[in-house]
Amino acid sequence: MSLSVAEKTKQYVLGTYARAPFVLDRGEGMYVVDDAGNRYLDFASGISVNALGQCDAGITAAAHEQFQRLGHVSNLYYSAPQADLAEALCQSSFADKVYLANSGTEAVEAAIKFARKVAYTRYGPGQKTGIVAFTGAFHGRTMGSLAMTPREKYQKAFRPLLPDVQIAPFNDVDAIAEFVTDATCAVFVEPIQGEGGINPASPEFLQALRDVCDRVGALLVFDEIQCGMGRTGTLWAYEQTRVVPDMLTTAKALGSGLPIGAVLMTDAVAGVMGVGDHGSTFAGGPVICRVAEATVKRISDPAMLAHVKEMGALLVERLNELNSPHVVEVRGRGLMVGVEFDMDVTPLIQASYQHGLILINAGPQVLRLLPPLIVEPEHIDALIDGLTSMLAELPEGTAA
Ligand SMILES: Cc1ncc(COP(=O)(O)O)c(C=O)c1O
Repeated sequence: MSLSVAEKTKQYVLGTYARAPFVLDRGEGMYVVDDAGNRYLDFASGISVNALGQCDAGITAAAHEQFQRLGHVSNLYYSAPQADLAEALCQSSFADKVYLANSGTEAVEAAIKFARKVAYTRYGPGQKTGIVAFTGAFHGRTMGSLAMTPREKYQKAFRPLLPDVQIAPFNDVDAIAEFVTDATCAVFVEPIQGEGGINPASPEFLQALRDVCDRVGALLVFDEIQCGMGRTGTLWAYEQTRVVPDMLTTAKALGSGLPIGAVLMTDAVAGVMGVGDHGSTFAGGPVICRVAEATVKRISDPAMLAHVKEMGALLVERLNELNSPHVVEVRGRGLMVGVEFDMDVTPLIQASYQHGLILINAGPQVLRLLPPLIVEPEHIDALIDGLTSMLAELPEGTAA
């Protein structure tokens, strides 16, 4: 007897994920479809990845054409797609140079190394190795990024993590000076925390971080892996602040579903790195670079960014009309929206599947809405109808 997909997965794939009770088989724009033919309206985008929805014609054509022309080559050779993507990223941001990686956590690890090398070059070995990150942050699962992701559940079995990392309170301007000192080489911050619960950093906080980094000679790194690539209504979230970082990490939506990460940086940072200082076999390959370049071009279109702002405002307006005593707050920017409840949102996520919706959380009490940027008002109507029914169906006495 052959095993079902779920049984086979459980038997052969390492069990590090909790999975929804269906098998996804195909996708069409805003929808994914399971192997029984059930359609789900996607308000998660594969965790902020599918900005252009599923199976976008331009993206699939870019991947197909490039793979037929030239696939993997390694970084021992030049190839036009890599150069074109790097140019598009620099021309669309503060950056002078780009380092390409294969995932978000790899981009963060690279940024840690670049910050260490800048401090090593300017101040000498061991003089300035400290890294500061914040409460509620999520920067990834590998040993360096995990050290900057202060969740006991994620860290406890894996210590010792990268040393010299300190966690300061998020959005607390007064606490900064205690943590960011002459021994600090870099400060990592998400302009809007994603996994931590959709928490925007205040403009004053980001400005204070910029000021202290300039004073002590540390680099300011914005992790825009979740909040960048058009999600908040500008290509990069930092564009909505007055603060420009020294480095920015991106991934997720950059690849429209193929794996990629990137570090954007100024020439001052890039200048310390030389041949052999860092590298990757796969990173910057022709297929992903063509796809990412096409994605950057599509998302930077002013009409697309205006659409994100318009749909984001509509989404927040409609969520605020949800007449539920359980809703504590609706917050976010553009199409990165969190709804905080006075209860665990797991029952809502489980119920969403019966209502033909894909929803995810950000921490126990926050529903996280990250639809593809191509969302239209009728999809928001369908979400609100689904949420209204789900909230009405909650058992009496449901509370925190
Ligand atoms: C802000 C942020 N940084 C880093 C990461 C890690 O990215 P990846 O899962 O691609 O390693 C994530 C993933 O959720 C993220 O949201």
